[in-house]
Parts: sequence; structure tokens; C-alpha cells
Amino acid sequence: PRFFAVVPAAGVGARLGADVPKQYLEIAGTSLLAWSLRPLLRAAWIEQVLVVVAPGDERAARACAALAGGARERLRVVAVGGATRRDSVLAGLLALDRDPGCGGHDWVLVHDAARPGLSDSALARLRDRLDGHPAGGLLALPVADTVKRAGAGGEVAATVPREGLWLAQTPQMFRFGPLRAALERHPEVTDEAAAMEAQREPVLLVAGERRNFKVTTRDDLDMMAALLGDARP
Ligand code: C5P
Repeated sequence: PRFFAVVPAAGVGARLGADVPKQYLEIAGTSLLAWSLRPLLRAAWIEQVLVVVAPGDERAARACAALAGGARERLRVVAVGGATRRDSVLAGLLALDRDPGCGGHDWVLVHDAARPGLSDSALARLRDRLDGHPAGGLLALPVADTVKRAGAGGEVAATVPREGLWLAQTPQMFRFGPLRAALERHPEVTDEAAAMEAQREPVLLVAGERRNFKVTTRDDLDMMAALLGDARP
């Protein structure tokens, strides 16, 4: 099979409250988008990496120019992003279907532009663990903290047993045909796995890593900056 990647980068990053979408915030002079693309571009087994940005977004080209020359050959930017993450990913799949001609059995990895900490080893582990799998799976982490449900007024309404609970990360890697069908049928989902689950497809949990957290708040950005230090993409 062939492997492709779709990176949805059409969000506005409202929770971070910055004046640019969060994928364009910088750590050590390099955008979160470019950091997030780096491990995908280093993985030679991924044929093409498709970045989905919002229509009219001109920052993506600049962000991608920061990447090393050779890596950019497998990179494509399409301005077909939609109102939700699911819309942006689905638009990316349709673009893949048209252009390189992604087959039903080929694999697509969907990775957030706001996860700059993905390591080469976690990416390789995802691929290895899904070798021969009929549908696909995702990187995820078992919940280590005790989980509370909040009630009105900020007091605890319940403690939720954490046994069997995992936090979903990306990349999420699925067969192209089933993923496209699942996303077309389930517009309400917040990740690809949820669409596949709704279709009763088997979805494998593969051990992720803490450093692959999603940058959502200013606190996350500070933490990621400390983690990435001054390494260069
Ligand atoms: O907002 P959230 O953190 O869930 O976004 C996850 C990823 O999905 C980000 O990379 C963001 O740019 C992308 N996204 C998108 N289109 C949207 C909303 C989010 O591509 N309409």
C-alpha cells in the first residue's frame, strides 16, 4: 500500500487568543505548522503530505518555505479548509483522491498542525502496529490522573473511573476508502477515529507520548517551547 498524510491547518485557534491562528505561532523562529510537518516529511515512506489551509490564507507558503529544500518536494498546500476540522480533513481527502489518485486500501495519516512535538519513533510505531490492520488506529495515551466531572458552580459532580480511558492524539491513520466514507456520513465528529467507530470499524489504540500534546492554550505554548528548546526543524 501507499501512504499519504493530510495536515488540517485551517483552524483559527480561538482558545489561544493570539492575533494569528495558532499554527502560525512560532517556537525558536519556526511556526508550529512547520514543526508539525517535520516528522512527516522525514518519514520517506509517506509519499505526499497535503496541508489544508483556509481559503485566502497566504501564511502557509511562508511557513513551508522554512522547511529544508528536499523535504518540500513531497509537500502540497491546498486552500480548501472548511468550517470544522472534519470539513477540512474531508476536503483534503477529496484532493488526494483527485490528484495522486489515492486508492481505497492506501493509508492516510491525519496529523494536527498544532502538534509540533511528534517524535520519529512514535510515528514509526503507529505504522508498524497497524501493519496489515483492516481499518486503522491512532496514537493515544492512557489517562494517568483522576478524572472529575464538574457540576454547576465549579464543584465536583462526580469522579469518573479512569480505567480504560485514553486521550486521543494524532496522527490518526486509516485506510483511505473507509475513512472517506465514515467522514462523509458523520459530520459531527471531532476526530477521524470517532467517525470510524460510528461505522463500527475496528480502531486500534497505539501508545503515543506526552510530548505529542496539542497546543491549545498559552500555557501549552510555553511548555512546548521549553520542550523543543532551540532545535531546528
Ligand atoms: O481547534 P483544534 O485544536 O481542535 O484544531 C485541531 C487541528 O485542526 C488544527 O491543526 C486546526 O488548524 C485544524 N482545523 C482545521 N479546520 C477547522 C478547524 C480546525 O483544519 N475548521
